[in-house]
Amino acid sequence: MMRRLDQLLASLGYGSRREVRDWVEAGRVTVRGAPQTDPGARVEPGEVRIDGEPPDHPGELLILLNKPAGRVCSHDPAEGPSVYDLLPPRWRRRNPAVTTIGRLDKETTGLLLLTDVSALVHRLTSPKHKVPKVYRALLDRDPPAGIEGVFAGGSLVLPGEERACAPAQLRLLGDRRAEVVLTEGRYHQVRRMFASQGCSVAELDRIRFGSLELGNLARGSWIELPINCLDEV
Ligand code: URA
Repeated sequence: MMRRLDQLLASLGYGSRREVRDWVEAGRVTVRGAPQTDPGARVEPGEVRIDGEPPDHPGELLILLNKPAGRVCSHDPAEGPSVYDLLPPRWRRRNPAVTTIGRLDKETTGLLLLTDVSALVHRLTSPKHKVPKVYRALLDRDPPAGIEGVFAGGSLVLPGEERACAPAQLRLLGDRRAEVVLTEGRYHQVRRMFASQGCSVAELDRIRFGSLELGNLARGSWIELPINCLDEV
């Protein structure tokens, strides 16, 4: 799709409209090999080079990150080290912004998706779509007998809430380990569901989101996914 050159570069995080206009006018940008010094020129992103380099991910972004513990899903630096610091710094200045699809708590690890497509965020976080998310938890104690039925029953109301949690599948794996499948994403939901049954969650790791798994992606690393890979979810 043809875009205005200054708009394209500013939206990809290269700088403010003013800054990228200065770059263009200084001759740092070529289109199809020839210098393009008009910031208002309409260009095909794939034909642009900035200091000889192609534009940084000019299409829509979908990122799968293996979140390490100790990072928040927030753009606010006051909240501490952020998952966004694990991505290229330029992406912080993209418009539309790159955001997480739902959130994981600071100490939760595992599969986190990020995108700059807000429609994707809305679809994948809407309880209406019931996207299954699979978590592995390490508990502080053995859970009480019958907990699988409580999670699956659809009538567990968490403190401070009015609506019961949707049925959640719970599999006890032994050694205080459990696997939970949720189709919604309430605040601290896994921790609060276990807390309601007298257990606290010592470690929490998300291993699947819809059809996506982490594979052998290292903690703290990310990969780009095709934007349509969640179309069927
Ligand atoms: N449930 C939680 O309690 N924490 C998370 O990070 C995700 C689900």
